[in-house]
Amino acid sequence: MKSQVEAIKWEDDRLSLLDQRVLPERVLYLEYTHSGDVALAITDMVVRGAPAIGVTAAYGVVLAGRVAFEIANKEWKQYISAAIDELAKSRPTAVNLFWAIDRMKDLMAKLSDTENPTQALLDEAIAIHKEDIAANKAMGKLGFELMAASADQPFAVITHCNTGSLATGGFGTALGVIRHAWNDKLISHVHADETRPWLQGSRLTAWELEQDGIDVTLNVDSAAAHIMKQGQVKWVIVGADRITANGDAANKIGTYSLAVLAKFHGIKFMVVAPSTTVDMSLPTGDLIPIEQRTGTEVTSIKGYQLAPETVEAFNPVFDVTPAELIDAIVTEKGVVENPTTEKMKALLG
Ligand code: MRU
Repeated sequence: MKSQVEAIKWEDDRLSLLDQRVLPERVLYLEYTHSGDVALAITDMVVRGAPAIGVTAAYGVVLAGRVAFEIANKEWKQYISAAIDELAKSRPTAVNLFWAIDRMKDLMAKLSDTENPTQALLDEAIAIHKEDIAANKAMGKLGFELMAASADQPFAVITHCNTGSLATGGFGTALGVIRHAWNDKLISHVHADETRPWLQGSRLTAWELEQDGIDVTLNVDSAAAHIMKQGQVKWVIVGADRITANGDAANKIGTYSLAVLAKFHGIKFMVVAPSTTVDMSLPTGDLIPIEQRTGTEVTSIKGYQLAPETVEAFNPVFDVTPAELIDAIVTEKGVVENPTTEKMKALLG
């Protein structure tokens, strides 16, 4: 199974990010040698998607470590902390960012003060990157098997936002399941929500699926109920930015509405996310910090003003789907059906 797009690359001693702000018009890679610029790239959405943000932050720590050792030598561990804080402040909702930074910090604690930490940090970042791809492939198979168990013929699915190679280390979470099920001829068609306001669905998902030859149509977010009513869609498949101990899942704004619509139409709702997206320290989704971005993302498109200049826009970019609306959470460690705190603890500790 191919996954052609590479959002994050380490090449020639630097980090290279596919600029997702200019897709699909341009395929442009930007290069990074300083962690402060990587933090800005995450904030500005050069790279986005929970697992991709985590992988990028890990490479950001590599760049920070290299600079810290060059400048501060054996004081590098003190010197690096401001850069790490900057990375941690880049976006608030996806827990993968904090997970990756903590893992890099755990490694740093084991490294010597006097030796250049760059290679050890790089090895860890590459391991995080590879593990994410492996997790995606495992989830693709598990999600496929779950759907196949109750299907007697191919069916359509709806997805929201972008959860593919662009949003991860590679392959994808929800799009990984879709890729796998398309290749095994279980999925016959993908409905991609355009995903207002940033348009991850139209600009990224439609592009990624077309690259892979997967049959996709794009719809405005508000067409979802109408599409579900036609009866072809059997599953809604989405990713997540943070899943709490009880199985509540934060994902792109509009995911919660899809879950409510799916329940009404008797359509199954699947959340696909690696264990690095699970935050067992938060008992429920009410505690997840929800990022609010600038209102200009709503009032204008590519600098073209759509709304009155003076109107205030409310732009929360994630919402929380309650566990009771979720039929299955698919992680690389296994599937939790009808999630509860007990079931989540049993699988994820
Ligand atoms: O604001 P974004 O584009 O970073 O939001 C991304 C999402 O909401 C994805 O659905 C989520 O991160 C899962 S990606 C595998």
